[in-house]
Amino acid sequence: MTRQTLWHEAANRAETDGTAVPSRVEVAVVGAGITGLTTAVLLARAGLSVAVLEARTVAGSTTGASTAKVSLLQGTTFSTIARHHPPSVIGTYVEANRAAQEWLSGFCETAGVPVQSRDAVTFAVSDQGERQARQELALARDAGLPVTWVPELDLPFGHRGGVQLSEQLQTDPVAVAHALVREARAHGATVHEGVRALRVSGDQPALIETDSGVVQADRVVLATGMPILDRGGYFARMEARRSYLMAFRGVVAPPSGMYLSAEQPSRSLREARRGDDKLLLVGGAGHTTGRTRSEREHLDQLRDWTRRWWPQAEETHAWSAQDHSTSHGLPFAGPLQPGTEHLLVAGGFAKWGMTNGVAGAMALAARVTGGRLDWAAIYEPWRRSELAGLGTFARFNASVAVEMARGWMRLDAAHRAEPAAAPDGLSRVCTHLGGKVKWNDAEQTWDCPLHGSRFDADGTVLNAPATCGLRRASTE
Ligand SMILES: Cc1cc2nc3c(=O)[nH]c(=O)nc-3n(C[C@H](O)[C@H](O)[C@H](O)COP(=O)(O)OP(=O)(O)OC[C@H]3O[C@@H](n4cnc5c(N)ncnc54)[C@H](O)[C@@H]3O)c2cc1C
Ligand code: FES
Repeated sequence: MTRQTLWHEAANRAETDGTAVPSRVEVAVVGAGITGLTTAVLLARAGLSVAVLEARTVAGSTTGASTAKVSLLQGTTFSTIARHHPPSVIGTYVEANRAAQEWLSGFCETAGVPVQSRDAVTFAVSDQGERQARQELALARDAGLPVTWVPELDLPFGHRGGVQLSEQLQTDPVAVAHALVREARAHGATVHEGVRALRVSGDQPALIETDSGVVQADRVVLATGMPILDRGGYFARMEARRSYLMAFRGVVAPPSGMYLSAEQPSRSLREARRGDDKLLLVGGAGHTTGRTRSEREHLDQLRDWTRRWWPQAEETHAWSAQDHSTSHGLPFAGPLQPGTEHLLVAGGFAKWGMTNGVAGAMALAARVTGGRLDWAAIYEPWRRSELAGLGTFARFNASVAVEMARGWMRLDAAHRAEPAAAPDGLSRVCTHLGGKVKWNDAEQTWDCPLHGSRFDADGTVLNAPATCGLRRASTE
């Protein structure tokens, strides 16, 4: 399996500012994915001094590995939201995602990033899938989206039709990210790759300790996927899910739309261009990070499925990435804890961050600049409707989140580790909260089944919430 995604291979990289971080800024954004970079653009355009601190490279994590559908129809997301919230929340969610889609499309047009208009389709292959897709159709209609049911789709396998929303968008997420870097820097922001935030303390200013020095900031935006700080208990309210993407050439007529199956195991399809090649992207086969016997088997399933339906398909790329689902079915964008306006967080996009990450950034930027976006209320991490059920004592207490996620915590307990010795001297104990890491046989990494931290074979951190690498036995 290659680690380089299709998008990174062709990237026209923006210049960045090295590891010499500024000692003082108004806003420090941690994480240079779509969320952090959009936040940086909005705040730099508003005249604030902004530094983006990125542990790895621009779009080097989930954003750069995305399928990059920029769509208001999102698989069966509306049905998920409907399980937790009243129907009006779906309307507000659509409004937020529409605002983000419009912002991103306008940005791409100005920045010269190619975007293609495509039909988005949630398709079904089984009775149960058809029921789910039809429910999504009804919820989408109630939310005012002009969706239709299409019985015959341009797919080579048997299916039951699907719900379709026309004129949605697809793009190249790495091209978007580098265009955002250029825009942020053009407005005075600095973007630092290879700078890992280790700790945040104090309030105004907050002190961000990094592996390249300390940055003082009036506000800190954590856009790291899973937040790197445990305050607020997000690690217990979010679940990291890995899934796989492969690119194939040689498919004469790839399906023209952006497809996602209603049922599991999910199958996601879109086409992409690379030079003269028309590529078919196939994604899915997801699982909770670190909680499967063999990651390679998931990749093989996807490969076998593709070869079955497109026998002429020739694999060019295969990669994997993770995103986070939340226990209440909605993303977060707001204060890390109640009242901590200097410490903001955004995440939990459930594989729809190309719009929700932008919406989250818009919500946070409005918060910082004193603006107001009515739809942003659904992203509040400490929504009154949720907190009301927990009693007033817990209401303003950080342990609320842990209580809300008690079920998830129990699951976590089952995976807790004994300290492990290893012949290579590398500890198998996750540096976040002591989970026992598991070998990922597809990517040759150590993955933690508790909250999704991942480490390279040499112990280097790849994914938050961990901020430091696996220890060597001699240093424990
Ligand atoms: C396989 C797959 C397909 C997807 N397809 C789609 C799609 O078609 N449409 C869609 O809308 N969404 C899709 N998504 C979801 C979307 O890509 C994500 O929601 C989005 O990219 C998340 O962006 P982000 O900026 O929040 O996080 P990321 O892109 O993960 O950025 C977080 C950054 O923070 C950095 N970081 C972490 N810890 C630290 C630290 N301590 N110090 C400094 N930096 C740190 C990381 O290195 C990383 O670069 C998909 C996700 C996956 C996994
Ligand atoms: S990610 Fe939390 S214990 Fe490993």
